[in-house]
Amino acid sequence: MVKRIAILTSGGDAPGMNAAIRLCIRAGLYYGKEMYVIYEGFKGLVEGQIHQVTKDFTKDLINRGGTILKSARYMEFIEEDVQKKAIEQLQAYDIDALIGIGGDGTYKGLLALAKLGFPVIGIPATIDNDVSSSERTIGFSTALNTICECVDRIKDTSNSHQRCSIVEVMGRYCGDLALYAGVSEGAELTITSDTKKTDDEIIASLKRLKAQRKTHAIVLVSEHLYDGAALAKKIEEETGFHTCYEVLGRLQRGGSPTAEDRILAARLSVKAIELLVNNEYGNGRVVGQIQGAIKDFDIEEAIAKPRHKHINLEKLINMLQ
Ligand code: F6P
Repeated sequence: MVKRIAILTSGGDAPGMNAAIRLCIRAGLYYGKEMYVIYEGFKGLVEGQIHQVTKDFTKDLINRGGTILKSARYMEFIEEDVQKKAIEQLQAYDIDALIGIGGDGTYKGLLALAKLGFPVIGIPATIDNDVSSSERTIGFSTALNTICECVDRIKDTSNSHQRCSIVEVMGRYCGDLALYAGVSEGAELTITSDTKKTDDEIIASLKRLKAQRKTHAIVLVSEHLYDGAALAKKIEEETGFHTCYEVLGRLQRGGSPTAEDRILAARLSVKAIELLVNNEYGNGRVVGQIQGAIKDFDIEEAIAKPRHKHINLEKLINMLQ
């Protein structure tokens, strides 16, 4: 029977991680479990930064951005010796199960521990929305709203100065932030890794818009696709649009989580705890939202699953731009 549960956050932080930490602790205590937190992700686990917590720890957490447990990108965790050290630390505290809150990288770390026989559960939290076993990740809604707020402002000045603004958004190799923001903002062009365009294609589209008397334009692009400065220069030279390249960067990751992210965090966290309470953790599970319902999946199968593509949204974008 699982009596002691530890929680960590790992990878890029996401708004709503704190809400998930809060809900895991509260749900665990509700079911009579002893709850522990681990600071600095897998790195902190290996170092033994493990502390028991009570309900007091969860005060004033629900609306705070970032992760109170800190996060780290810890490449050393691919080494089996390091993974074994992590398990020794968990055993030293008599911990029976580990919940990891994060994205794909976090799931891979958890899977390594599951393969060594340790019970694990993954909760999807990353602004990128790139976890294939959940149609939503905790943090995506907040980051999307932040992007929209920023683009609204850029639009004001882009309009006043009759400019073309290329806005680069995060998402690693997943275009969801750009795609959803493109629809929400009515961007003139939205470009993701699934819909990548050549410089010439972008220029041709902007020339068409100019010919239709469009005096300003917003071009939303996913990160890692273009050399922004070079693209802006080329657009300016060939279309006559004064062009600026704006990188929204890490401000997309901060801020108080939206109600949607808090509710998602609550539903996923309770499910994660209940899998442990009911001994339904198998060889490691992850929780996710599929068609609005909260489900769980084998962690290895979840990692192997291909990512869902938003063909309908892409069609919508093509139709409207
Ligand atoms: O995974 C979340 C994310 O914000 C990605 O969108 C981005 O590519 C990456 O993290 C940036 O990570 P870091 O802040 O560690 O450079």
